[in-house]
Amino acid sequence: MKILIVGSGGREHAIAYACSKSPKVDKIYCAPGNAGISELAECVPISAMEFDRLADFAAEKEIDLTVIGMDDPLVGGIVDLFEARGLRVFGPRKNAAILEGSKAFSKDLMKKYNIPTAAYETFTSADDAKKYLETSEYPIVLKADGLALGKGVLICNIKEEALAGVDELMLDKKFGDAGNTIVIEEFMTGREVSVLSFVDGNTIKIMSSAQDHKRAKDGDEGLNTGGMGNFSPSPFYTEEVDDFCKKHIYQATVDAMKAEGREFKGVIFFGLMLTPKGPKVLEYNARFGDPEAQVVLPRLKNDIIDVFNACIDGTLDKIDLQFEDKACVCVILASDGYPLAYEKGKIITGLDNFKGKDGYYCFHAGTKFDDNGNIVTNGGRVLGITAKGDTLKEARANAYAATEWVDFENKYMRHDIGKAIENMD
Ligand code: AMP
Ligand code: GLY
Repeated sequence: MKILIVGSGGREHAIAYACSKSPKVDKIYCAPGNAGISELAECVPISAMEFDRLADFAAEKEIDLTVIGMDDPLVGGIVDLFEARGLRVFGPRKNAAILEGSKAFSKDLMKKYNIPTAAYETFTSADDAKKYLETSEYPIVLKADGLALGKGVLICNIKEEALAGVDELMLDKKFGDAGNTIVIEEFMTGREVSVLSFVDGNTIKIMSSAQDHKRAKDGDEGLNTGGMGNFSPSPFYTEEVDDFCKKHIYQATVDAMKAEGREFKGVIFFGLMLTPKGPKVLEYNARFGDPEAQVVLPRLKNDIIDVFNACIDGTLDKIDLQFEDKACVCVILASDGYPLAYEKGKIITGLDNFKGKDGYYCFHAGTKFDDNGNIVTNGGRVLGITAKGDTLKEARANAYAATEWVDFENKYMRHDIGKAIENMD
């Protein structure tokens, strides 16, 4: 088979890695890809939003299956376009990707179908939002309705902050049209867990749980980022939590989408908060998480192509989804300054240290080749240093040891990824 992966981050590198392990796969292309992905795939210089060019490429190269990694093209309808051209593609259609594309949509869906989530109100007028904030309890959470690179969420401790937040999202349009509508919701406390799942429209199969670390700095300080590292499985995702979510969240979401005429095929990512009152949905994503894919996919025992096909064909009930009984930890090496301003173009050394090291992975998030053929930094998140271990503690020690194998100017990482589980094995 010939596979095309659409995207350019650590998640797409992890997807490429999983595809490369399938005996069914002869050739992988990635558009646009990055320097690390080019070891597994032929990178094609077409951006993820150039749908027609991507479809032309898939048709011309007789690609058997295209896998969409990123949210923007899914929400923009890339799957509909591929299907209309008779091209086989993995991911939700536009009318289902809205589960991630609009927070107002997903909140209304949860309310309508009694799926546990934080209480909320939706606003399209800044004045109305501000009026509401006069009598709200604090802290409170403001969310841009649309896609904002995981950064459109403001947690406001006092009223003044929230009022300024409304200005930022709705009037200054910090995230563009994503902030035309905002959701204001109740602040929840508890541990966060990410749960990825495969969905074929009817059947849902849960992957191993993971815990992300979204804040930029140690101790969960600093700004929200796309994710600074994570571990899988999460020991806080107990059997009791799993039972509750199976009963009230997972299948309920798939059924709700179907009932709305928005059949979902692809990956649903459940961002859960384990509150004192039980698990609640923080958010949905319509794709693999980044960096969740990096800690979950290396442990997938199935041939991922079989799973993708089952999702497309509606035969997921026939798949016995299995994960290795190991732990995995990913530490993001970022450019100092991320998620605000940072420098690019710094030469990365030591990448060869990962060659031949079983159980260690260096997933590239933001890298490229410079004109001299050096691999250089090309993004806020640069590398996802990932390692397996028999226990979370061992995986954590392995991952942090491996962060020393590579170097670049302005290398920045959190030092407490998975610290919470240090003493739990
Ligand atoms: P989201 O993109 O909706 O997952 O939000 C990003 C992050 O903001 C989440 O991972 C949480 O850490 C935090 N967050 C979002 N909504 C809430 C909430 N209602 N209460 C507390 N924290 C939240
Ligand atoms: N790691 C969170 C996300 O992929 O949105």
